[in-house]
Amino acid sequence: MAQKKLWGGRFGKETNVFVEEFTRSIHYDYKLARYDILGSILHVKILKTSGYLNSLEAEKLTAALKDLYRYVSGSAFNPGLKDEDIHTFIQNELEKRTGELALKLHTARSRNDQVVFATKVYCKIAVEAIQTRIFAFMGALDTAAKNNENIILPGFTHLQHAQPVYLKDYLGAYRNMFARDSERLAYISQTIKITMGAGALAGTPINSADYRVNAKDVLDGPEDIKKLIAALRVEPVTNSLDSVSNRDFVIELLSALSLIATHLSRLSEDLILWATREFGFIELDDAFCTGSSLMPQKKNPDVLELMRGYAGRIYGNLLSVLTMMKGLPLTYNRDMQLDKEPLFSSFQIIESELTVMEGLIRTIQFNREKISEHLKDESLYATDLVYYLVDKKIPFKMAHAIIGKLIKYSLDSRIQIKDLPEEKLKGFSGVFVKSEIKRLFDPFVSVKSKKSIKR
Ligand code: ARG
Repeated sequence: MAQKKLWGGRFGKETNVFVEEFTRSIHYDYKLARYDILGSILHVKILKTSGYLNSLEAEKLTAALKDLYRYVSGSAFNPGLKDEDIHTFIQNELEKRTGELALKLHTARSRNDQVVFATKVYCKIAVEAIQTRIFAFMGALDTAAKNNENIILPGFTHLQHAQPVYLKDYLGAYRNMFARDSERLAYISQTIKITMGAGALAGTPINSADYRVNAKDVLDGPEDIKKLIAALRVEPVTNSLDSVSNRDFVIELLSALSLIATHLSRLSEDLILWATREFGFIELDDAFCTGSSLMPQKKNPDVLELMRGYAGRIYGNLLSVLTMMKGLPLTYNRDMQLDKEPLFSSFQIIESELTVMEGLIRTIQFNREKISEHLKDESLYATDLVYYLVDKKIPFKMAHAIIGKLIKYSLDSRIQIKDLPEEKLKGFSGVFVKSEIKRLFDPFVSVKSKKSIKR
């Protein structure tokens, strides 16, 4: 026998068991329990101000809701599968504790409004957790950059040797991406306005002014959400139709999380390449690698491969919500219940990815010798040779062509440019002085000659 529903009066039959299972969301929206209860405590205050509840009733409901809040925050919390969703579960639990009084809580209220409230609060808290992980991860990148500040490595375009660059700049490029990710999340979170009073879609009989409530007036935040409770101000809804049908914030966050996934995936790809014998730039810590069941010699970067792979899941989550929303007429439609699994999934994956990636970066070893071997490739200094000719007043395009020919000659004849006799060099351009160009095949000279970067 199913639990009591929040509706049912107009129905002459029990719900089909498969329909119950099909429509149920409690197995994932239980994650909204605390935020739904917070919304309920605020709603009690609003009902009291507007005269729907007397002080004693409000006090009793608030006390029971706080008790429930403690229960769902603890390890004993088991929502089970009996209720349709978390809102129903909380209502039924409240009824067990306060009897008929609980039935007044739903005055001027709809799950359509509740679910937006709870999801928005969830999002703000989830963003905070990601921000903490991003800062820690950026700290790891900073430390790695600082500890290896003199390492220069080949920079790539098209995955071909291009020009020497500092490792600290390479890591700094990723740091920049994550700094932007953090700002993007902060911006999105700040634009999420917490409102109440939409009702099912058309508003409620309660005066809009009564909806101005502060979370801190009704609940002392537990440690993990103290900051949010202190800052959370509810505003009256300005367009109830938009409010119950808006999932833009979910899509924006899924999109910001997709970019984080992109950045983690790109970093993973760089590190996977660097960890190969062919590159040999890095040694990943044993604690961050896995082995092969068949080949005993293997030490595989599975962690990084999963980061690359999870990007697909995270893009899928974004795409599923975008697609789910695109054909919905105003206002609330049940389709919208399906925003939660992708939302929770993306937040959870990104949080664990950032945690693992931080540890991986903190333990990575850069192999200076192997990297220096790659720096012997003369083609890395070809652009510096062009600048050399330009400094000798040869027009850039001409200089570019001369060095191109010189490189080709060196490759064809298998003689390094720095080993070519001066007469041979002068055959390409009369301005070449062997002792001068020899100095250019030096990674430090190369990076130091780039003055456009404001450090
Ligand atoms: N579990 C539902 C959701 O997440 C709650 C809203 C149900 N509202 C309704 N009118 N059937 O969207």
